[in-house]
Amino acid sequence: MKLAQSKLALRELLDMGTAGTIGFVPTMGALHQGHLSLVEKSISECDRTVISIFVNPTQFNDRRDLERYPRNLEQDLSLLEPLLDPDDIVFTPEYSDLYRDEKSFELDLEGLDKVMEGKYRSGHFEGVVRVVKLLFEAVRPGKAYFGQKDFQQLTIIRTMVRKLGMAIDIVSCPVLREPNGLAMSSRNERLAPDQRSAASVIYRTLKENSRLHSPSQLSMAEKIISDTINSTPGFTVEYFDVVDNVNLRKVSPGSLLSPDRQYFGCIAVYAGEIRLIDNVEFSFQLLKG
Ligand code: PAJ
Repeated sequence: MKLAQSKLALRELLDMGTAGTIGFVPTMGALHQGHLSLVEKSISECDRTVISIFVNPTQFNDRRDLERYPRNLEQDLSLLEPLLDPDDIVFTPEYSDLYRDEKSFELDLEGLDKVMEGKYRSGHFEGVVRVVKLLFEAVRPGKAYFGQKDFQQLTIIRTMVRKLGMAIDIVSCPVLREPNGLAMSSRNERLAPDQRSAASVIYRTLKENSRLHSPSQLSMAEKIISDTINSTPGFTVEYFDVVDNVNLRKVSPGSLLSPDRQYFGCIAVYAGEIRLIDNVEFSFQLLKG
C-alpha cells in the first residue's frame, strides 16, 4: 500500500500503477471491522482501492465531539496493511489542502438533510456533502462504498451523486455489529465497559419490535422501544423514526405503505455523553398480503 498525504501526491500515485476501476472508501479513521468490511468489498470488486482517513471538521456541529474524536493513524495503517495491494492507496489529506480551491455549489437535498440526524445535528450533512464531493473530485472513483450504519448519510450521498451528475456507483454495505449486537462505531471506544455491554439494548429492542402488522402498531412499538432504552441507566433516546428508504419520509400510524420501498427504524441514543446511532429494517405483514 502507498500513503498519499496531499491531493497532489494522490494524483501522482493514481496516474501511475494499475489502471481500471477505482474503489473508494471514505472514513474518519479509528478503523474497526465495520470499516474494514467496506475495504474488503472494494478490494474484491475493484482493480484498485483508495481509503481516505480524514476527520472532517465541517461536519461536526459540536466542537467537543470533534476534539474528542479518536485518532490513531498508526493503528489504522497497521489494520489496512495486510489487506491492501502495493498499488492501493491510503489518502490522509490536511484540511487546508483538501478544502483549498473549494468551489461553492447549490444542492437541493429535498429535505433529506433536515430530518433525524439533520434535525439534531444542524449543518452536519452540509459538511458531509462538502467533504465527500471534494474527496470524490480528488479520487475520481468508479465505485464508492458506504455503510448502511449511516443510513441517512448513504441516502444523501446517493442523491448528491445523482443531482451533481457524478458517474459513481454508490455501494451500500451491511452494518457490522459487536457480538452483543451493538453496531460497531469509532465512538464505542469511548464507552465504559458497563455502558458498552448495556448498549446491546439498542439493537435488541429495535429487532424485537421490527415486525409489525401495519403502521397502526407503530405508536405502541415506538413507546416500547423508547421506554425500554430510557429505562436502562444512563441511556436516553434522542429520536426514533421509521422512515422509507427513498425520501426518508416518516411512517406514521395512518401512512400508506408501498411494496416497492423498504422501511427502516432509525434511532439516536445518548449513552452518558456518547451519542450512538443505529437502524434496523422494519417489515409490515400487511405488505406481504
Ligand atoms: P466514518 O464514521 O469513519 O465511517 C466511514 C464509513 O464506514 C461510513 O460509510 C460508515 O457508514 C461505515 N461504517 C461505520 N460503522 C460501520 C459498521 N458498523 N458497519 C458497516 N459500516 C460502517 O461516515 C463517515 O466516517 C464520514 O461521514 C465520511 C463519509 C467519511 C465523511 O467525512
